[in-house]
Amino acid sequence: MSYHEIKPGIYSVGAVDWDRRLFDSLIPLPDGTSYNSYLIKGSEKTALIDTVDPAMDYVLIDNLDRLNVEQIDYIVCNHAEQDHAGSITIMLDLYPEARVICTPKCKGMLMDLLHLDESVFQTVNDKDTLSLGDRTMEFIHAPWVHWPETMLTYLREDKVLFPCDFFGSHLAQSALYVQDEGLVYESAKRYFGEIMMPFRTNIQKNMDKLKDYKIDIIAPSHGPAYDKPEFILSAYRSWVYDEPLNIVLLPYVSMHGSTREMVEHLTQALTERNVNVKQFDLTVADPGKLAIALVDAATLVLGTCTVLGGAHPLAANVTFLANALRPNLKFASIIGSYGWGSRAIEQITGMLSNLKLEVLEPVYIKGSPGDDDFKALDKLAETIAQKHRERGYK
Ligand code: FEO
Repeated sequence: MSYHEIKPGIYSVGAVDWDRRLFDSLIPLPDGTSYNSYLIKGSEKTALIDTVDPAMDYVLIDNLDRLNVEQIDYIVCNHAEQDHAGSITIMLDLYPEARVICTPKCKGMLMDLLHLDESVFQTVNDKDTLSLGDRTMEFIHAPWVHWPETMLTYLREDKVLFPCDFFGSHLAQSALYVQDEGLVYESAKRYFGEIMMPFRTNIQKNMDKLKDYKIDIIAPSHGPAYDKPEFILSAYRSWVYDEPLNIVLLPYVSMHGSTREMVEHLTQALTERNVNVKQFDLTVADPGKLAIALVDAATLVLGTCTVLGGAHPLAANVTFLANALRPNLKFASIIGSYGWGSRAIEQITGMLSNLKLEVLEPVYIKGSPGDDDFKALDKLAETIAQKHRERGYK
């Protein structure tokens, strides 16, 4: 692996992790990821923006070696999570004169996570600046993207924004900038759905803050950098500000086929009413694809059979995930069947407490579906279509 030059004196020196397939022991990474770190040489001082996951610290060290970096004055820590901050300790071993630049909250978190001594820190307030000689770093506090201590670093003269996780994507590639916009769009949307969506209100505030800045390049700490920043800025604007779309997300799990039959009927009934459906079989579904669908969907209809007297654990799992990700859902319902009794409806609706949505009449039946049950599903489809029309969802 090697480094990239962004501009004379500004380098991308992080690591591409082609093989990683799971993040936070939760999130599938079908396309790997990267831990981007950036070196900025000023006429007087040198700064490193974020480090890398400690599992790949040797790549960062090697890149700094190739660039003959003998001194680092500032290690800017935009975010304390270990995939960016975890190699600060070894950087301080190699460059003991460096100061760690971060928000006051980040300082406390780094002392807890890395056991760094208080003396290594220099904290910065919102809009504070630090001169590198002919270059100036400005620090923009941006809490809750996606931890409370986060900040962005803006290099004024070069108009480069280093936003760490913000605008990032889990995507391994050797090139510096976006090569395939379709692929990056999906990766960035997956990343937004899984990481940023629960903090949509804070993201809106931080997007508003950025309106004052002229930005030529966005260099996040995961995935490719953006030399056409409007690509990712407009995508984020649609994800954080727009109303949901005319989409029903329909994840389901079925043991003997009754719930699946109901899901197929509802899909057809919604399609006939011009409502788009995204159907997922939970025994094989990728949670990342579900997260992507949750970014836009107006309605969630969960299909679950009954097992052990309640909702199937896979259905409970996806409900827990949807509740935690706090999507912009407006309506929800439940369909499925049971053999002799079920507490699935109470269980599932009780798990949606974070979401301000209207629960539509469930269609939960005993045994396999018959004519009356299909009519009830038609009625649910009609209700959903009407609600989407009334709200103007496209
Ligand atoms: Fe990429 Fe929140 O760490």
